[in-house]
Amino acid sequence: MWTQQQLDQYQRDGYLIQRGIITPDEVAAMLEASHELMSGRPTPSDVHTVHETSGAIRTVFCVHRQVDVFRAACRSEKIAGPVKQVFGQDGYIFHSKINVKDSFEGTVWLWHQDYGYWGYDGVNDRMMSAMLMLDKTTLHNGCIMMLCGSHKWGVLDHLDDEKSTSYKQWCITPEALRAHLTDESMIVPITGEPGDVCFFDCNLVHGSGHNMSPQPRKTMIYAYASIDNMPRGVEAPRPDWVVSREYEPVTADIQLGPAAA
Ligand code: SIN
Ligand code: MN
Repeated sequence: MWTQQQLDQYQRDGYLIQRGIITPDEVAAMLEASHELMSGRPTPSDVHTVHETSGAIRTVFCVHRQVDVFRAACRSEKIAGPVKQVFGQDGYIFHSKINVKDSFEGTVWLWHQDYGYWGYDGVNDRMMSAMLMLDKTTLHNGCIMMLCGSHKWGVLDHLDDEKSTSYKQWCITPEALRAHLTDESMIVPITGEPGDVCFFDCNLVHGSGHNMSPQPRKTMIYAYASIDNMPRGVEAPRPDWVVSREYEPVTADIQLGPAAA
């Protein structure tokens, strides 16, 4: 469980990194499961794969239900415990995805706030993500970058971009970026080792560049919503593989620690 200091840091910066909390054995099992999902052999029925325009696999969605190692990790105390502390109540998985960022082919995630997308799914912003590094993550292979404290800026103007990548992205407009991201020193690259985990707020501005390196950059991202935050009906609901219709509390058996009291 996080200390009060860790909780304060998360609330102040909009993110918190915990180094090495996934063991090498767990990382190895996750990599093996990822390779199996990407092998071309049949996948569990609700898994959904998105390719880059080059044909390389970009993202494998919805791996938290039927793939044992990913199902276990999102319920583990070390991942789900802090989520429950931040929410002050149980959470459920809103979606999960392996972002593959293959060597030379994995490409950009434009600057965005996750809630810039998720607001349209009919949820409120009691949401956060846990990003597990499965490969070494560097400046060269397209590490995620954060704007520290930007979760306090409110939701910036987003536009839908269907040109930059194969996957339609909601990204912050150049005007809003120019108004807010005024100095390059505001950009914090989140580099790390397999087993490191970065927790971040759904309003934190983040993005990542192309993988220019021979090394892949696989990360597993679990997006959580608080259990009282189920999507209201919206006109054009996105599919279940990206906006889960299963509202099972993943953290129900984890007690709130004194830090969250
Ligand atoms: C995301 O914002 O969901 C993904 C960012 C990344 O994988 O670099
Ligand atoms: Mn995102």
